[in-house]
Amino acid sequence: MVNRRCVPQSYGFVFLFVVVHYARGDLSYSVQEELKHGSVIGNIAKDLGLELGKLSARKARVDLDGSDRQYVGINLRSGDLFVAERIDREEHCGERPACILKFDLLLENPLELHRLSLQVQDVNDNAPIFPKDIIKLEIRESADKGARYRINAAQDADIGQNSVQSYTLQQNAHFVFSSQTTKAGSKYCELVLDKELDREEQQEMRLLLTAVDGGSPQRSGTVVIHVIVLDANDNAPVFTEAVYSARLPENSPLKTPVITVSASDADEGVNGEVTYEFSRLSDKSQKLFSLDQKTGEIIVTGDVDYEEGSKYEVIVEAKDGYGLSSEAKVIIDITDVNDNAPVIYVKSLSNSIPENVSPGTEVGIINVQDRDSENNRQVRCSIQQGVPFKLVPSIKNYYSLVTTGQLDRELVSDYNITITATDEGSPPLSSSKTVQLSVADINDNPPVFEEQSYSTYVTENNKPGSTLCSVTARDPDWRQNGTVIYSLLPGEVNGAPVSSYLSVNGDTGVIHAVRSFDYEQFRSFKVHVMARDNGSPPLSSNVTVSVFISDVNDNSPQVLYPAPEGNSFMTELIPKSAHGGSLVSKVIAVDADSGQNAWLSYHIVKSTDPGLFTIGVHSGEIRTQRDISESDSMKQNLIVSVKDNGQPSLSATCSMYLLISDNLAEVPELKDISYDEKNSKLTSYLIIALVSVSTFFLTFIIIILGVRFCRRRKPRLLFDGAVAIPSAYLPPNYADVDGTGTLRSAYNYDAYLTTGSRTSDFKFVTSYNDNTLPADQTLRKSPSDFADVFGDCDASPEVGTTSCYFILCSF
Ligand SMILES: *[C@@H]1O[C@H](CO)[C@@H](O)[C@H](O)[C@H]1NC(C)=O
Ligand SMILES: *[C@@H]1O[C@H](CO)[C@@H](O)[C@H](O)[C@H]1NC(C)=O
Ligand SMILES: *[C@@H]1O[C@H](CO)[C@@H](O)[C@H](O)[C@H]1NC(C)=O
Repeated sequence: MVNRRCVPQSYGFVFLFVVVHYARGDLSYSVQEELKHGSVIGNIAKDLGLELGKLSARKARVDLDGSDRQYVGINLRSGDLFVAERIDREEHCGERPACILKFDLLLENPLELHRLSLQVQDVNDNAPIFPKDIIKLEIRESADKGARYRINAAQDADIGQNSVQSYTLQQNAHFVFSSQTTKAGSKYCELVLDKELDREEQQEMRLLLTAVDGGSPQRSGTVVIHVIVLDANDNAPVFTEAVYSARLPENSPLKTPVITVSASDADEGVNGEVTYEFSRLSDKSQKLFSLDQKTGEIIVTGDVDYEEGSKYEVIVEAKDGYGLSSEAKVIIDITDVNDNAPVIYVKSLSNSIPENVSPGTEVGIINVQDRDSENNRQVRCSIQQGVPFKLVPSIKNYYSLVTTGQLDRELVSDYNITITATDEGSPPLSSSKTVQLSVADINDNPPVFEEQSYSTYVTENNKPGSTLCSVTARDPDWRQNGTVIYSLLPGEVNGAPVSSYLSVNGDTGVIHAVRSFDYEQFRSFKVHVMARDNGSPPLSSNVTVSVFISDVNDNSPQVLYPAPEGNSFMTELIPKSAHGGSLVSKVIAVDADSGQNAWLSYHIVKSTDPGLFTIGVHSGEIRTQRDISESDSMKQNLIVSVKDNGQPSLSATCSMYLLISDNLAEVPELKDISYDEKNSKLTSYLIIALVSVSTFFLTFIIIILGVRFCRRRKPRLLFDGAVAIPSAYLPPNYADVDGTGTLRSAYNYDAYLTTGSRTSDFKFVTSYNDNTLPADQTLRKSPSDFADVFGDCDASPEVGTTSCYFILCSF
């Protein structure tokens, strides 16, 4: 990141105790050490120009570089940066004059990093301290005026004005105080003999030395200088170097020699015996190093960690037997060893990612830190192969975890992503961390039926409520997004809503019949079943369910001709000259069932003369078996049974009356053939019959005229004596049953005229517009219906649809 810090302003904004320098991008604050928790340092929101609400939405937070301590926090509501933990400048920066803590200020969505530096200002919280409570000096009485005696300076952990500023020596007759600075920059103090000592006058004296700092309030420390006056004198030891420097790799084992200092003393004997000791030592150094009093060798006594401290300065004092001393500085540079593996911090992670996020969506933020230095802290980060995620280096040592492809929860719902960080040390160190990501469901799959379409077979006359079949659809989505609900799509079957035929169980997809089906009404129908999930918005799909109804032999054959029952007689006239094999009549029957169940066969079950007539088993045609002879009875009566081929088969019977005669004149002898016992009354019946026939004939002529009048409205009158069965008489579905013994629609039967039976018979056949043949309707209507019918013919306004009447007349 480019450092965009502006030229520092020479004046600051003075908050009560805080000075703020703010530059675009980077923030810089200054705070005094030792402030109590909650003290406000500055306002981040204002300084970044961010709206207050954004801070919380963008998860603003600060992290201290390379440490997990949280010295400061952000109040997300007010945007204030506040002290979260006591900051001790001395702990952090020691003697360094400038103490700057560097923080990363992190904002997410999008990831944005600002540097935040916090300058910790010193507070006078430490008093000057002398290394020892008492300093012992042994001085020969012969010492000259102006002789100097070195005294270790007082130390103050604070810096600048807050460090030691001046010394005051207790008023006395012999010594004055002088403060000096060595070439290496360290300070030392000297007692200067101002007036010669006289052992005989005073053997020893105690002087109080006070060091004061320049802080406010001012702090001070004291030491007692114990001067013993001796008879002899010597030289002070002299170090071979003023400053020693050494390099020590970190993690060096205990007792590793660091450096040996050496000082020589020109004196002999006790006066030339030099001993060494540390004179000023920070707490840290004290734990790490020790000095051999005799040899001056410094060795390691603790864990040397580059990351804890990379440079140590210690002052070594050499002393001779009389306590004369000198000092030297030892600088120990610690060199880095790649001993810290990179550490991966997951700074932010969406714990569930909707499966429809577009590739490139940021789902997490990773921070990698390595506490080593230089190459040892260069870290490369990688992620395992085969997952639709990648790490994108972001700012500094931050990485964004972004998606690289489309996610599909139905394929993979959880990812364990292993991130590996390797540094460039030698040997390199690496560490890895696994983060768990789950993919959240989106309703992106409609339910899918297991089959393209469904068909089911049901025999007619089923029980209402019976189960037909079941449909199943699967939806791989999660919970309600994958919960399937079945329903029938609205539609019509034969003009009625589908729901009056079928119902579907919404949860199981089981389809039930609502009513009993009739094969003769319809043979199959289709419905659409929809499967819908419970998502929002829901997704659905539909499937066609075909229901095929199979036939049951539930209709017995129905004889159309001759009329099976009743008190009117239809009589066929057979000429006496008829030869064997002549077609005499035909039984016409139909069966509403289909297939085998409608395959009819005809049998004569009873006849007046069993040898005379045969019936075609499948055609129903009645033929003479031999030539008619004079001896044959004039009246012949046949009972024909019609059977279908169902299991079990159903049958019907009808009677056929035949009259062997050439001449209508013989008719007067005709009497009701079915009632032989009434023969004696035949003559009177015939007379009555003739009269009524004449009357009807007259009426008929009148009717004809009437009919002709309304012929324009398309009534048809069949009056040619043929046995005409109008095609409309038959249900259309009989028409395709050819050659099975039922009637062909175009069958025209005219072999023999039905003739002058005295019993005339009007047959009124309504034209059926509906498709079915009502079982109970016959070819007859009573004469009273007759008038109604003709009235209709004249006046009906819906003539085009209903007014066609066929009149069959047999004379
Ligand atoms: C991911 O890790 C968790 C816990 O370690 C485990 O239960 C889960 O099965 C793992 N998932 C995958 C997809 O490997
Ligand atoms: C179902 O999908 C919708 C989006 O289509 C999503 O918001 C919701 O969380 C999903 N429900 C479940 C239970 O996963
Ligand atoms: C039924 O599904 C087909 C395609 O599968 C679709 O074209 C049609 O619109 C759907 N019908 C309804 C009523 O949803």
